[in-house]
Amino acid sequence: MKIGVIPENVFEWLALVLGYVPTPLIEIGGGIIFVRALMVATKLNLFEALASESLSTQEVAARCATDPEATQKLLNALVTMGYLYKNGELYALTPFARKWLLKEAPYSLHDFVVYEFVDWELVTHMEDFIRTGKPVLMHEQMSSDDWKLYQYGMRSIANLVAPKVAKRIPVPRGARNMLDVGGSHGCYSVEICRHYRNLNAVILDLPEAVEFAAPLLVKEGMGDRVIHKVGNVLTDDLGTSVYDLILISNLVHHFDEATNRKLVQRTAQALKPGGYLVIQEYVMTNPYSLNKSGQALVGLWNLFYALTSDSSIWNFQEIASWQQEAGLITKKPISLLHNCMQQSAMKPSK
Ligand SMILES: C[S@@+](CC[C@H](N)C(=O)[O-])C[C@H]1O[C@@H](n2cnc3c(N)ncnc32)[C@H](O)[C@@H]1O
Repeated sequence: MKIGVIPENVFEWLALVLGYVPTPLIEIGGGIIFVRALMVATKLNLFEALASESLSTQEVAARCATDPEATQKLLNALVTMGYLYKNGELYALTPFARKWLLKEAPYSLHDFVVYEFVDWELVTHMEDFIRTGKPVLMHEQMSSDDWKLYQYGMRSIANLVAPKVAKRIPVPRGARNMLDVGGSHGCYSVEICRHYRNLNAVILDLPEAVEFAAPLLVKEGMGDRVIHKVGNVLTDDLGTSVYDLILISNLVHHFDEATNRKLVQRTAQALKPGGYLVIQEYVMTNPYSLNKSGQALVGLWNLFYALTSDSSIWNFQEIASWQQEAGLITKKPISLLHNCMQQSAMKPSK
């Protein structure tokens, strides 16, 4: 998927094709307002206000405790953005807004959008980063409020693919113990353990994460079968031959290459013979051809993780090479959604 300038009629299409459209003006002048308007509307619950009925500006403003005149500007912008309809004086949600932004929708991205206030602040450091090469290291500088938004935001993304992950992840026959490294909300562990009734999971995460992820896990009602453990995967003793399955999802883009090699060595040691180490990530499918289809978003995230974690989006070959170096036998990667992939590897039985 690409973010870009979309013509609204045939003349605009032609102008775009012929190179007459000042695309940076639209991408930046429109894009910056588009993103912020969507974030603000979500945070201030404008979409929630319209969940069950069409409302006038005054009514939306009253429900959201906002200024009516300013709210009208935002509502009108949301109409042009495709998130609201306007019929006379009344505003209503489009199916698109209903599906993705209402808090209780099955695939709601509400919490992800609100978390983006944290990312917005982080990207303001990009100029300094490019000048100096000094990243901001998000895990070291987030406030307690940020950590909370982070856990909820990650969960809303995981919710999109968790059932697919549970179906496709390789699980050895008779598996009992799973470790979910940097597992945060535990959405993947919960879904996998629901699928495999004899499996129990430990979610290992930093204390700042577990503080806010724990209530999310309690809501799943898994009891002792899925539990949190506060710790640091880079320094804690993970044990030897303990787990049948280890999942590392969306973590290696926070570490540099040497740290990832160490992470994979440590987790491979903690794996039982015949067990699987699964690394799930947004990957660069073709690092040598960035302008190939499917690379647009990962290209942006590659910059983002360099800025916020001194890291990178990795590719299959790199991830598989860490697993092979740790003595594991790699499997063919599988695609879950867009560039979200699983690279699995098995620990050979002696
Ligand atoms: C991007 S989130 C991914 C959450 C979840 N695995 C997912 O895929 O949705 C990264 C998680 O890794 C955790 N983390 C970062 N460094 C860690 C470390 N050294 N040990 C354990 N967890 C860590 C963070 O606290 C955060 O919850």
